[in-house]
Amino acid sequence: MHPSIGGRALIGQAIPRRALRADLLDFTGDPGLGTPSPGAARHRPDHWLLIDEHGRIAGVQPGAQAPGPDWLCEDHRGGLLTPGLIDTHVHSVQLDVIASYGAELLDWLERYTFPAEARHADAAHARAQAEAFADGLLAHGTTAAVVFPSVHAASVDALFGAAQRLGMRLITGKVLMDRHAPDDLRDDVAEAQAQCESLIARWHGTERLAFAVTPRFAATSTPEQLTMAGALLERHSGVYMQTHVAENRAEVAWIAKLFPEARSYLDVYQRAGLLNERAVLAHGIWLDDADRALLADSGAQIAHSPSSNLFLGSGLFDWQAMADARVHVSLASDVGGGTSLSMLRTMADAYRVQALRGVRLSAFKALYTATLGAARALRLDHEIGSLDVGRVADVTVWDWASGAVARGRDALARDLHERLFAWMMLADERNLVTTLVAGRTQYKRRSDDSGAPSTGRPKAAAPPWGADAAGVLGADRGDT
Ligand code: GUN
Ligand code: ZN
Repeated sequence: MHPSIGGRALIGQAIPRRALRADLLDFTGDPGLGTPSPGAARHRPDHWLLIDEHGRIAGVQPGAQAPGPDWLCEDHRGGLLTPGLIDTHVHSVQLDVIASYGAELLDWLERYTFPAEARHADAAHARAQAEAFADGLLAHGTTAAVVFPSVHAASVDALFGAAQRLGMRLITGKVLMDRHAPDDLRDDVAEAQAQCESLIARWHGTERLAFAVTPRFAATSTPEQLTMAGALLERHSGVYMQTHVAENRAEVAWIAKLFPEARSYLDVYQRAGLLNERAVLAHGIWLDDADRALLADSGAQIAHSPSSNLFLGSGLFDWQAMADARVHVSLASDVGGGTSLSMLRTMADAYRVQALRGVRLSAFKALYTATLGAARALRLDHEIGSLDVGRVADVTVWDWASGAVARGRDALARDLHERLFAWMMLADERNLVTTLVAGRTQYKRRSDDSGAPSTGRPKAAAPPWGADAAGVLGADRGDT
């Protein structure tokens, strides 16, 4: 069991015992890719979900059986209640670059992303953006995430601090980049190691927070830095690893030039000791069977990021091949390559990507992957991902449908899968009624139905767009 949830009290003081009434839906197993098999879905229409004073799920009972007077009751009858959604790859420092026009990965990084990340050297900016990001996740129904901040230790402190205040399960770590990056975003091996050690000491295992060793991708770390990253993992068991792999064809060709001794892009990470059951690798589009066998053997997971892959034109992820090789696959928004923090929109994009490959992703598999599947891949299913008794009460409540068209479609659904599929394709964050983290309400839709979080925080200053693109990725792509 993770040290942070071994005790009774989750975050601070006890809360009132609460009960939420809705249609409860979660999973007890993997429904499998393709043909919807309802066996793994646990649908309890019109039930109460009971949450104890420690923020954990205490039980479930039929809607007609009202909890006693010592339960604080919230009646969302007719709504859909699911475990909080889990985003396994998202960049907290890229909110400013969502929907930036006209580039594939390497040019996009250089033109838009690096300048935005450089602004996080300013600790006040980093704090404001981290708060906006954490609020944004909750306003989209995401209660747990694996996150890339920037190279700056202050951006990591800001993000952990924001998540801690909200009681969220969050995994993040300082981005490692000691080459092929602008001067103001480059670290070096010794400095990066010292910062990681001190961040691990400060945050890893504190409440619901965990550290991830975070080499951005093989192109922006020297072999020495990757080796240092592997040594950190060796020294600190329980720490995660996150990176990008095989996203874009030009990127893959560049990595082959930079690491001629490696069999493949993924092999670069294997040689550095970075692959294990706590490794989260985003994308994994351009991999082969040997890579997939390596992923399966190591227990590492691929964070499939369909919105980003479509937006940046990176490619169509082969989920079937991953499933055949028994690789853990989770779902990720990859904002700002992805265009929304919504895991619902991510699930809908995943369906579209698979449709282009001739595979029909069921709504059961999609929602499983964004809840229990991700929790299992992260080895956190004892804590999150389902409505089992004893799990932390990270919970979302949704309207099944909103607007005349979706309501009409919902009314015609003949079975649970049809209904859930229409929800997955037609709903978004505007359908979200409320988000609970460890039993506390951390997001509630305003009555004006805007879907915006009502934090009252000031808006971020207008960003100085891209005039200073540094040329660091384009300049020496032929180098080794
Ligand atoms: N590869 C290296 N860095 C990034 C990033 O920030 N976003 C995406 N999508 N891919 C990357
Ligand atoms: Zn990414």
